[in-house]
Formats: sequence, structure tokens, C-alpha cells
Amino acid sequence: MRRVLITGGAGFIGANFVLHLSKASPADRLIVLDKLTYAGNIENLKALTEGPNYRFVKGDINDAALVDGLFHDEAIDTVVNFAAESHVDRSILGPRDFVETNILGTFTLLEAARKYWLRGEGRPEGKRFLHVSTDEVYGSLGATGLFTETTAYSPNSPYAASKASSDHLVRAYFHTYGLPVVTTNCSNNYGPFQFPEKLIPLMVINALKGKPLPVYGDGQNVRDWLFVEDHCKAIALVLNKGRLGETYNVGGRNEKKNIDIVKLICSLVDERAQKDSGLRKDFPFEGSRSSLIHFVKDRPGHDRRYAIDCSKIEKELGWTPEHAFEDGIRKTVDWYMDNRAWWERILSGEYTEYYNLQYGKRLG
Ligand code: NAD
Ligand code: DAU
Repeated sequence: MRRVLITGGAGFIGANFVLHLSKASPADRLIVLDKLTYAGNIENLKALTEGPNYRFVKGDINDAALVDGLFHDEAIDTVVNFAAESHVDRSILGPRDFVETNILGTFTLLEAARKYWLRGEGRPEGKRFLHVSTDEVYGSLGATGLFTETTAYSPNSPYAASKASSDHLVRAYFHTYGLPVVTTNCSNNYGPFQFPEKLIPLMVINALKGKPLPVYGDGQNVRDWLFVEDHCKAIALVLNKGRLGETYNVGGRNEKKNIDIVKLICSLVDERAQKDSGLRKDFPFEGSRSSLIHFVKDRPGHDRRYAIDCSKIEKELGWTPEHAFEDGIRKTVDWYMDNRAWWERILSGEYTEYYNLQYGKRLG
């Protein structure tokens, strides 16, 4: 039985991971620490009940006293660090939060682990700090080639630079102090609970509502898409079996141009609305939703292409992406169609009220 601190566990990937681990490893005690920024939504975890195996703590990973208290009181032996500011566009508009959470927040967690885990000689037994990172640290690819674990870091956005910086700190704590760390660098995720500022949920919801679909630049930028469940399984595997001090690239072997994704989403939303009289009544639309596509001003410093070589995790740990993109994207579009209340509450700003209703009295 592990005592796992999962930071950022109310966000998109974090929540999918918490739900996954609670089933895959039911003996573990999961302590979720999340600040509940605009991107954090406690409703994502409503399937879980507080008790011996699960506790939710609202708080900031930068709050050293809170983090130390959790290491002490909960005897944390495992950390999975998802907490981050995650949206590239926001990092261009306001990089400070990215520096504070992604760099200083990770530093605060590393310091707590160093203080509580490295008390004797040598590497501590049964402890592990998994840092969740991104392929964006490697920068941009040309028309060919793949990112491997030895590709030099070359981050281009404030978001990518902040993640790169945190990755370096994690690495340094391994080499300098012997902290038992492991890092994963993953490509673009998609699936349930993704905040509707990111490409796929934004396009699904706007297409349904008949709103413009803003494609940046010429729409030819390439991302390597991975269904979030496959990412969660990779993280769980690295947590159990990854070699300490190593980094593992995780990707979908699934390169797509943005414009092709948006066109596919339009046809899936058209198809779903065709079959569903409720959706047709609430969101009347004539013709094909691809007519909503608009090419808009490009993102500054927009990386052209990402693609991951995930052969290390495949060969060493036996992981492989299980979802074909065609199935994963259909599942995702269906999830957003079937969970309108979830995103309607987010778009109205009401979702923070769920936390107040569930936890307001107890935590003040
Ligand atoms: P997200 O924005 O959906 O969720 C981030 C979560 O972190 C939110 O719940 C938020 O409330 C919480 N948080 C933010 N600042 C905090 C702080 N100071 N203290 C405590 N909690 C805080 O992000 P996501 O897409 O789920 O990404 C999770 C992690 O995975 C990030 O580290 C991101 O860099 C990495 N990643 C994301 C992707 C992707 O495609 N989304 C791909 C590779 C890696
Ligand atoms: O590669 C992993 C990264 O993927 C993660 O580290 C980030 O946390 C995650 O947000 C994601 O970053 P991207 O910038 O690739 O994701 P986003 O969904 O913002 O954009 C995907 C692509 O779509 C990108 O090329 C920009 C483009 N785009 C995005 C939006 C929101 C558009 O063309 N229009 C849009 O409205």
C-alpha cells in the first residue's frame, strides 16, 4: 500500500489518473492536492468518496508549510506531480503564474521530498517522485524526425520553458541529492474532462453551438495525439517499474495536422447531431459545420511539429498506446455531447460552486 500525493489531480490528466489509479491500485491511499485554479474542477473526482483511500486537499504546491504538513501527517512515500499552468496561449499573455507554479511549485515539492525522504545514508527505500512533463520542452521539429529522450531541450513558449526548467530541477535533485525521481514527457492528450480552452474540446463545443472555429495560422501545424487513458496507464507503469533517474517519452504515434482534426470534429458533430433529435432541437444548424472554420492570426512562436519516439517505454516497460485515434476521437466527441452539463457549468463559471457546496463548510 502506497501513500500517494497527486498534485493537480482535479485537472484534466490528473483527474483521469486519480480515477484510473483508484481502480488499478485500490489499496493505495490517494491524497489529491489541487489549488483549484480556473482549470481545476473537483467535480471531475465526484465518483470518489473521502475515506481511508482518498482525501482531497485544496491548496497550492507553493505553500511549503502545507506541503511539509502533508508529507509529515500522511507519511507520503510517492508523489505524482501534475500540478501546472498548462495552456500555451495563457503563458504568452501572462507568464508569471507559469514560473510560480511550474518552476517554484515543483521546487517546493522537491524540497519537501528531500527533507522527509533523505534522512539516512544512500537512496531511500520505497519512495518515488514522478514528474509529469511534456514534449514541448524539445521545441519544434521540421518535416521529419522524432523527439527521443536524448533530444536537446529547446523550449519556445514561456509554458515550455517553465516545464523545461522544472524537468531540470527534478534531474538535478536525482544527481545532487539522490532523490528517487523519474520524469515522463508526453505528447498532446485528448479525452474526457479536458478544459474547453484546448483545441479539441473548444472545437467540439463551438461546432455544436455553431460558433466560429478559429484555426491558428495555416492549420498545417502537427501534433502527436494520445488518448488520456493511454497516458494514465503509461504513468502508472513508470511509477511502478520505471528506472530511477530516467526520463520516458510517451506518445500516440499519431501525427495529425490541426486542420484535419478540426474537419474531422466537424463531421463527427454533424453525424451525432443528425442522429440525436435532442441535440438538433437545442443546437439547430443547417449544412456542414466545416463552414465555421476560420483561419486566424497565428500563435506567436507557434511550434510547427511535435512527434514522439516512444520506443524506450515500449521496449523497457511493455507500454503501447491502445486507442486508435479514430476510436478515441469518437469517444471524446460523444463524451462532450453526453456531458453537456459539465462544460456548460464551466462556461458559466458555476463549477467553482460545486467545491463550495461539497467542501465549503468544512474548509471555510
Ligand atoms: P490542467 O490545466 O487541466 O490541470 C492542471 C491542474 O493543476 C488543475 O487542476 C489546477 O487547479 C492545478 N494547479 C495549478 N496550479 C496549481 C498550484 N499552484 N498548486 C496546486 N494545484 C495547481 O492540465 P493538464 O492538461 O491536466 O496537464 C497536467 C500535467 O500534464 C501538466 O504538468 C502538464 O504540463 C502535463 N502535460 C499535459 C499534456 C496535455 O496534453 N494536456 C501533455 C503532456 C504533459
Ligand atoms: O504537446 C503537449 C502539450 O499539448 C501540453 O504540454 C500542453 O499542456 C497542452 O496544452 C498541449 O499544448 P498545445 O499548445 O499543443 O495544445 P492546444 O490545444 O492549445 O493547441 C493544439 C494545436 O492547435 C496548436 O498547434 C495550436 C492550435 N490551436 C489551438 C487552439 C486553442 C488552434 O489552431 N486554435 C485554437 O483555438
